[in-house]
Amino acid sequence: MAKKLGTRFVCSNCNAAYAKWTGRCGNCGEWNTLQEQIEMSTATARTSGHKLEAQTVSAAAKVKTNRLSVGIAEFDDVLGGGVVPGSVILLAGEPGIGKSTLLLQAAHNLAQKGKVLYVSGEESARQVAMRTSRLGISNSPLQLAVSASANDIASTVAGGDYGVVVVDSIQSVAVNEITSAAGNVSQITGSTQLISLAAKTTDTALILVGHVTKEGTIAGPKVLEHVVDVVLQLEGDRYGGFKILRSAKNRYGSTNEAGIFEMTDKGLAGVANPSAALLAERQVSDGSIVHACMEGSRPLLVEIQALVNPSSYGYPKRTASGIDLNRVNLLVAMLERRTKLKLADKDIYVNVVGGIRLSEPAADLAVCMAIASATRGMQLKLNAVVFGEVGLSGEVRHVPFLDKRLAESKKLGFEGAIGPRVLAGKKPVGLSSVGDVRSALNTFLEKD
Ligand code: TYD
Ligand code: MG
Repeated sequence: MAKKLGTRFVCSNCNAAYAKWTGRCGNCGEWNTLQEQIEMSTATARTSGHKLEAQTVSAAAKVKTNRLSVGIAEFDDVLGGGVVPGSVILLAGEPGIGKSTLLLQAAHNLAQKGKVLYVSGEESARQVAMRTSRLGISNSPLQLAVSASANDIASTVAGGDYGVVVVDSIQSVAVNEITSAAGNVSQITGSTQLISLAAKTTDTALILVGHVTKEGTIAGPKVLEHVVDVVLQLEGDRYGGFKILRSAKNRYGSTNEAGIFEMTDKGLAGVANPSAALLAERQVSDGSIVHACMEGSRPLLVEIQALVNPSSYGYPKRTASGIDLNRVNLLVAMLERRTKLKLADKDIYVNVVGGIRLSEPAADLAVCMAIASATRGMQLKLNAVVFGEVGLSGEVRHVPFLDKRLAESKKLGFEGAIGPRVLAGKKPVGLSSVGDVRSALNTFLEKD
């Protein structure tokens, strides 16, 4: 006779098992760690399964997927060549960054070749229509619906043979059967599951909009990351500057591509030469250093500015925009210790121009040189860009994509670059290598 199946409670911390639920694990003493587990009989479970039809990779690779172009080159690149039918894409970003604008433009382009539905849960049809006339696409074949019900949207998707459906936003729709308010974690996951299930049955690509807060930590869209196929992030400054579209996860392409956009009066437009645009208003003065960063696989020149003033209060103020403040604090501490700069009684402000956010450690050397240049009122001797990671001993460390960074700086008329030593292979032409921060400051800064 098959063993009777039952449930047991297992501690997620120490794996101790109990017949009954308790608030605290008696074995490890942790609270709220017991989770219900259904016991199963492995013998019956094995015989109840069906034999899988496996195929070779080469046979699977022969099935071609036709991607749908969204008609915006940068957007297509980030997707890995366009929208894959039947995929679920999440576009996350802060409110007001331009998600609705970008998707309306993309949906309009997609609607030229197939049936596309744009469902808004946030704006009325009139508001969306006003936006389309602003974008110059008010004669679009794109279909529009307004709904806050995930059930209705799922039924519409299942019965509508749409190629692509956009849901703006996932926080504004709710499943009837779940009692919590829209935007709640269970509503977000429930709605996504309901709608994407309907989309999979009709091979419809689903694009969901998700709002995140400045910290990007809000539970909402984060919980969806493992449910969807592609996670795109639209980042940047809400009030101007560039918006950068990145993919944080992509089952159909690389996560290395990044698209750079600018908000115009006709919606979001791709920026052809972002480095030139970022440097257009630069004034060469102390505290200003040009850094060659990488946006995905693309090099980009950005200006890093530093301002250093004596503190008028006892506690010096440190502010950073476009770069992690902790990283700046660490570099300031390193400079204080490893060079002759006295920064303990100075207010330090670091700013990355153009709404760009630097997350690579390759920006370290440029930040250090900007701070040193501002403190001493000195400028770079060379017309050069700067990159290199800096360690706590002040050593300048290797960064990837040397050639791409150098090529971009040459393209924009810089004589060369100040960067790390090259460990293997030939040193690229135009690279002035430095071993540590101190020698970088001594060799390349001068009073004008
Ligand atoms: P929106 O796409 O609504 O942002 P999100 O959906 O991410 O919340 O729009 C962002 C901002 O862009 C909005 O404040 C108005 C501005 N905008 C323009 O500058 N030009 C335009 O053509 C459009 C449509 C919007
Ligand atoms: Mg919106």
